[in-house]
Amino acid sequence: MENSGTKKRAWAEPFKIKMVELIEMTTREHRLECIKEAGYNTFLLKSKDVYIDLLTDSGTGAMSDRQWSGIMMGDESYAGSRNFYHLRDTVEKYYSYKHTVPTHQGRGAEHIISKILVKKGDYVPGNMYFTTTRLHQELAGGTFVDVIIDEAHDVANLHPFKGNIDFDKLDALVKKVGAEKIPYVCVATAVNMAGGQPISMENMKQLREWCDKHKILVVHDMTRVSENAFFIKTREAGYENKTIAEIVYEICALTDVATMSAKKDPMVNIGGFLAMNDPKLYDKACNLVVVYEGLHTYGGMAGRDMEALAIGIVESIQWDHIRAREGQVEYLGQRLMDAGIPIVQPIGGHAVFLDARTMLSHLPQEHFPAQALAAAIYLQSGVRSMERGAVSAGRNKETGENYMPKLELVRLTIPRRVYTQAHMDVTAEAIIDVAAEAKSVKGLKLVYEPELLRFFQGRFEEL
Ligand SMILES: Cc1ncc(COP(=O)(O)O)c(C=O)c1O
Repeated sequence: MENSGTKKRAWAEPFKIKMVELIEMTTREHRLECIKEAGYNTFLLKSKDVYIDLLTDSGTGAMSDRQWSGIMMGDESYAGSRNFYHLRDTVEKYYSYKHTVPTHQGRGAEHIISKILVKKGDYVPGNMYFTTTRLHQELAGGTFVDVIIDEAHDVANLHPFKGNIDFDKLDALVKKVGAEKIPYVCVATAVNMAGGQPISMENMKQLREWCDKHKILVVHDMTRVSENAFFIKTREAGYENKTIAEIVYEICALTDVATMSAKKDPMVNIGGFLAMNDPKLYDKACNLVVVYEGLHTYGGMAGRDMEALAIGIVESIQWDHIRAREGQVEYLGQRLMDAGIPIVQPIGGHAVFLDARTMLSHLPQEHFPAQALAAAIYLQSGVRSMERGAVSAGRNKETGENYMPKLELVRLTIPRRVYTQAHMDVTAEAIIDVAAEAKSVKGLKLVYEPELLRFFQGRFEEL
């Protein structure tokens, strides 16, 4: 039942484990070799050398027995697979969008929509940047403009909806460049780079009105929309008795277009889609998807994966599921807070974000404290996390200068339905140990920097 236990403390998982994947514990000496070989970049570690993998929640979730049975129902016809129609109907039923174009993952959808809507010299405002999203906007000739509220850049600020948009910033942008230079506002639900922070329904409604007034589209990065809905239900007046499904639908219906990395909320290992209501836009997307992904009825996905995705969408909006998901994230965050570890607050939807700037206060941001902290946590415990600070922010495309974001974070991202409470305890203990020896963590310098999205493949050395 949707509302059963809303007020109870327990968030036990609504599943039991049917099959397990064995993982190995490693020694500190071995991990030292591994992290050096990986150039102090946790993306370059081999997964066999990782004990608890909190690198990302992307594609790392555990599919249910129903999703696996969906895999066996794959219709791998080149054109018109029945799984595509199941997916399309599911997207319309739960997310409101009439037209769906499958893509290989979220960035495939970002690529297509940026190419269609962004022209050289345009500006694309958003509630904080996301790495691949901003890059596709830039590659299409646009400039990203951050219009999230200031509170989002302050790790300790307890604003319940740190994903909200600041309309003064949007107004200022229109005044400066004119509405005709703004093809759309890119609004993310459960804003990843802000720490998994939600946007309120009230703010979404205001955005709809603002965009209607200026004749600007709303493009929704709906990667973690059900996590956002959880926070609306538990924090926003008037939504406590609505179902997660109702809230998710209401959010989506306030927007025109959506990009989805289906590797998150709907718990498939690979996949995504672009969705929209406007048939003309859909025609344009169909034209481009055949060039970059595949025919419009499979895009970048196998039939079996579209089936598992359609099933995962329904599972992702169940109250018992989302409550357990958020309960686990909160459990880890609370354990760290109890031990005095500085984290982004309120605890976000998909991850706990460590404030590396405070934890390693002896390191200047030029020495990449978050990158160094992620490497130190791995060395201590075999727990893999990810940098979300100056390395991820990259360089200004005009000046070549490093961006120095206010948030210098390490993300401990929790895969869905994968780890137990004991794994969360081990993780918390490892971080508490690193914090006790924080002064011994050395800064890093970049020794190899790829041109694009450098956090994935960049290499570092200790200073
Ligand atoms: C908010 C957000 N948008 C877009 C993407 C890109 O999706 P994908 O990794 O599937 O290409 C991600 C993935 O990490 C994300 O978190």
